[in-house]
Amino acid sequence: MRDLTELEVSGKKVLVRVDYNVPLSEGRVADDTRIRASLSTIKYLLERRARVILCSHLGRPKGKRVPEMSLKPVAERLSELLGRPVRFAEDCVGEVAEGSVEALGEGEILLLENLRFHEGETKNDPAFAEALARLAEVYLNDAFSVSHRAHASVVGVPERVKEKAAGFQLRREVDYLSRALESPERPFVAVVGGAKISGKIEVLRNLLRRVDKLLIGGAMANTFLAAEGLNLGRSLVEESELETAREILLSAQERGVKVYLPVDLVVAENEEGQGEEEVPVDSVPADKAAYDLGEETVALFAEALSGAGTIVWNGPMGLFEKSPFAYGTVAVARAIAAENALTLAGGGDTLAAIRRAGVAHAFSYLSTGGGAFLEFLEGKELPGIAALER
Ligand code: 3PG
Repeated sequence: MRDLTELEVSGKKVLVRVDYNVPLSEGRVADDTRIRASLSTIKYLLERRARVILCSHLGRPKGKRVPEMSLKPVAERLSELLGRPVRFAEDCVGEVAEGSVEALGEGEILLLENLRFHEGETKNDPAFAEALARLAEVYLNDAFSVSHRAHASVVGVPERVKEKAAGFQLRREVDYLSRALESPERPFVAVVGGAKISGKIEVLRNLLRRVDKLLIGGAMANTFLAAEGLNLGRSLVEESELETAREILLSAQERGVKVYLPVDLVVAENEEGQGEEEVPVDSVPADKAAYDLGEETVALFAEALSGAGTIVWNGPMGLFEKSPFAYGTVAVARAIAAENALTLAGGGDTLAAIRRAGVAHAFSYLSTGGGAFLEFLEGKELPGIAALER
């Protein structure tokens, strides 16, 4: 994968695939983290007087023009962040886009309308990819978080543009994640949570090949506890995955990976916290469900994290969005942040929890990716990255 610094960009039309799939509220950008992540590449290009053409999707409009999913508010936010005008093209291909690109001067910047207003984007339709590629002399992917999608702007366009490279954001993200997975400082500890193991089986399998310790929390821990024969009352347990959970525990044992499961849980009658109490894992009442880690588990996890060289975290430790059950997730976030290790986290919920715990600044790197972060942890080659390597 070439770097942006290896390309000649001065005066050229540079199409940059960014991920501006950001939350909007009342027509304004509610969280600009992903926009900020793209600034270093954009500034570099502007300094070299490139003609910067940005493209992105927002939401899943399924090939239709959905006004609420327009990228217009993003152009406004980007303009505020850069302190200079950002032009906006009402369409990402065709006459409108081509006209806007032609009118673009050196050192100017244009954002194209939502790529997914055309169904050719998600289908990687050759004609659509060609129409986009026609706009550019140079192509950059600066969107790690969408690099797991084999869409036109991610794989179709780089197949058609000769000069292509990774933007700074993509490079930084791939470097951090590869460093953690390929040459981790040991001990290497993975913390995995969230509701279900079904979506994370490959992540767990791949991590087992690499880590020294695996800490499992969130409702997915219930399935592992149930696999060990415990009765979890009304807790969420994936009956269909009990065998997989047993297999994973066995494989960990064979590989000498120490797995940490909760030893106590916060249980309640419902998500509102009625009848909330802390119980050992073998004493969950029949009419209650687990929603968070108990104090002993938090202490056990903090001890397991202590002295780690590398820590990778995905998935909350409980129903942290509800205040009665935020304790375990917030405490684990703080315990990870306190370690003098390479600390990486990814996924929307995980990042929200880290912000809630007030420790975002203490992590080495926060991935912009949700699905892409998980696929990377699975050990898969992401199509967007492969397309740059070809
Ligand atoms: C994300 O938000 O994870 C990326 O922008 C990808 O979005 P998608 O899941 O709609 O493809």
